[in-house]
Amino acid sequence: MGQQIILTTEVVERLNNIFDSKCISKVLLVCDSAFDYLQTKEEYLKIKVEYVFFNQFTSNPFYEDVVEGVKVFKDSKCDAIVAIGGGSAIDVAKCIKLYSGMSDSSNYLEQECKENEVPLIAIPTTSGTGSESTKYAVIYYEGKKQSVTHDSLVPEYAILDYRNLITLPLYQKKCTMMDALCQSIESWWSVNATEESRVYSKKALQMIMANMKGYLENSTDGNANMLIAANYAGQAINITQTTAAHAMSYKLTSLYGIPHGRAVFMCLPYIWKYMAEKNVLLEEFLKIAEALGCKNVNEAINLLYKMNDELFEENKVVMDSKDINILVESVNPTRLKNNPLPLLENEIRDLYNQIMEKYI
Ligand SMILES: [Fe+2]
Repeated sequence: MGQQIILTTEVVERLNNIFDSKCISKVLLVCDSAFDYLQTKEEYLKIKVEYVFFNQFTSNPFYEDVVEGVKVFKDSKCDAIVAIGGGSAIDVAKCIKLYSGMSDSSNYLEQECKENEVPLIAIPTTSGTGSESTKYAVIYYEGKKQSVTHDSLVPEYAILDYRNLITLPLYQKKCTMMDALCQSIESWWSVNATEESRVYSKKALQMIMANMKGYLENSTDGNANMLIAANYAGQAINITQTTAAHAMSYKLTSLYGIPHGRAVFMCLPYIWKYMAEKNVLLEEFLKIAEALGCKNVNEAINLLYKMNDELFEENKVVMDSKDINILVESVNPTRLKNNPLPLLENEIRDLYNQIMEKYI
């Protein structure tokens, strides 16, 4: 089933139309802590149906949070879910939807996923993960990251309202934008890339580069276009999944609290340089460089290093060289299978050493 992507500021009207067409009378609103700061909050709450809030989760949501969400959804007799928030809120909502159709007598993570009819509408408030258009959700169980993947996790509707980016703090804007940028690049070079996914990657990259300035200055066009770009990047990884830069980033986030997009961006230029020196994917690497507005691959990699320095100059990160083994051991081999070049343990170690050099 295809997804409807709606670009609008007439959100309430569109939601009400969806509620009418699907005979929805009560919704579960899955929101993160940013909801209270949204310029659109009061307006969104004018929807014509009853609603129940669910916001009991953190930015790296736990499986137990989702279980609680399923309970609230069922006990309140909601018949649809609306997620308003960043990637975590949307991921929680996706899992609530999926698990609400499964048996609550055993662990959902151990059951076979089943499609259900619960309508899910996602309204992203960051331009980063593109989660509003992917079949993936990330939650944590017993301290370990779990990737939940199922076709039915793609929300039926994604509503993109640029006004939701206005109140996003600048550091978060930078970090989430880098997630979108890395996802476009990784999707482009993923072994799963298709003609279609590369069209999305290219559009995303070109739009990110063209709108970065306006977006960081909070202009209407900048915000609106960045939201679309992040959605394209989401559609690209929905086809291809991510690669080594994402795989290497997760421990940087859990160990040092570095926001996801920034952690991925800290890894990506080093991985690209490493692969470029091996002379693989020459043609595609050049196309990625060109989409970034550069003449060649070296220029593009240097641009990314420079962007990392300039964008995050004021937000210091400190790492500990003693953590190197923890980092190397953390890399999920599944995600490396999508990388255009296999990376061995010693190569990953070498890459982490290069990345850490700046931050110790
Ligand atoms: Fe990501």
